[in-house]
Amino acid sequence: MTALPRHLLPDNSFVAPGGRLAVGGCDVIDLADEFGTPLFVYDEAMMRARCREAVAAFPDGAAYATKAFMCIAMARLAHEEGMTLDVATGGEIYIALAAGVPADRLVFHGNNKSVAELRMALEAGVGRIVIDSFEEIERLEQLVAGGLARPTVMIRVNPGVEAHTHEFLQTGVHDSKFGISIVDNSAIRAIARARDSFDFAGVHAHIGSQVFDVQSFERAIGVLGEFVAPIEIEELSIGGGLGVAYVEGETAPTITEWGVAVRRAVAAAGIEANVTAEPGRAIVAQSAITLYTVGIIKEIPGVRTYVSVDGGMSDNPRPILYGSGYEAFLPRGTDDDRPMHIRVVGKHCESGDVVIWDGTLSEDLVVGDILATPVTGAYGHSMGSNYNMVIRPPVVFVRDGVAKQVVRRETYDDLLARDFGVD
Ligand code: LLP
Repeated sequence: MTALPRHLLPDNSFVAPGGRLAVGGCDVIDLADEFGTPLFVYDEAMMRARCREAVAAFPDGAAYATKAFMCIAMARLAHEEGMTLDVATGGEIYIALAAGVPADRLVFHGNNKSVAELRMALEAGVGRIVIDSFEEIERLEQLVAGGLARPTVMIRVNPGVEAHTHEFLQTGVHDSKFGISIVDNSAIRAIARARDSFDFAGVHAHIGSQVFDVQSFERAIGVLGEFVAPIEIEELSIGGGLGVAYVEGETAPTITEWGVAVRRAVAAAGIEANVTAEPGRAIVAQSAITLYTVGIIKEIPGVRTYVSVDGGMSDNPRPILYGSGYEAFLPRGTDDDRPMHIRVVGKHCESGDVVIWDGTLSEDLVVGDILATPVTGAYGHSMGSNYNMVIRPPVVFVRDGVAKQVVRRETYDDLLARDFGVD
């Protein structure tokens, strides 16, 4: 019913008299005119501030989890603000290196790193490899035996802790593809072998993503405290996972509050090690809005009104994957009441192609309006697809009245770039 809660907008938002929204000093409807829609608009100064907050909250080291949103400009931004980068595939390593981030600032994750990816990481000289299995230890030992430099490694352990979040976003439960279990003696054996074969730095645990309650982290740290007490470790990484508010009524701890809670729990558990973390979502989610153009408004009397926009699950698959909620508003009247119940849907040939299941908008909505969804900076662009051969949107960073296009819109020719045809 009510107007969009202002705290869901990027920090550097300004609503002009009359209601038009500017982000980073740029009127967003003008951005839609200039760059077209769909369009990802990121508040650059806000992301920089979040990176600095993470570095202050975790002075021993904060890595930006690039899976949340990755491109050259983002890798550089996080690096410039003092974060290391969590990369989880050869592709993420490749982009980070293309951005000029020194390899020793990369932390390499993944539950199934191929020999080729591990070789790439060792040849580049990544700062840390976070080992996820015995098979991976074996692969690394063979690469070192073949003449590559001994890596610095951490062991990803599975603490067997259930984080309060969507089942697909939990990673620290015993029944998980991630990590080496501390419940049997596997993790201890992995650590002993890593000490022999490599430079062993410490232990990593990531309990899940979009975790609202810092107690989940505290519980995991309690479990880890008992586990690491008898062994000496230089570093404990508690992973990422801090949740963010997406819709009205949600609140989440700040990165600073998370850091305080984590470090307090680490001290209480008697862990003497550098404490590092790797937030992704909390750095970028709230910094961005997505702009769409309303194409069709279809009212089914007595049922609901469908509002079709020019994107959908190809730029934001989170609603269809996790049932995630978002808000919508019209940036021509940012503070307007939103009494009209609507479902915002995309243009894909699929009923589940939903941007907002049960949203509200102002009643004067018309075809051609620019519609915005806030809090779309994490896991939208990065999980986007070309489903239905829809071309992917560009990304602009806005700051001090200047809009920089950091990723261009895909073209129809891009869709043919890998296609050999029939001859
Ligand atoms: N570290 C590790 C080892 C991770 O696996 C992840 C996320 C992170 C850090 C960063 O987590 P964050 O701070 O962003 O929550 N696609 C899902 C999220 C998947 C997260 C995967 N791993 C979503 O859209 O909600």
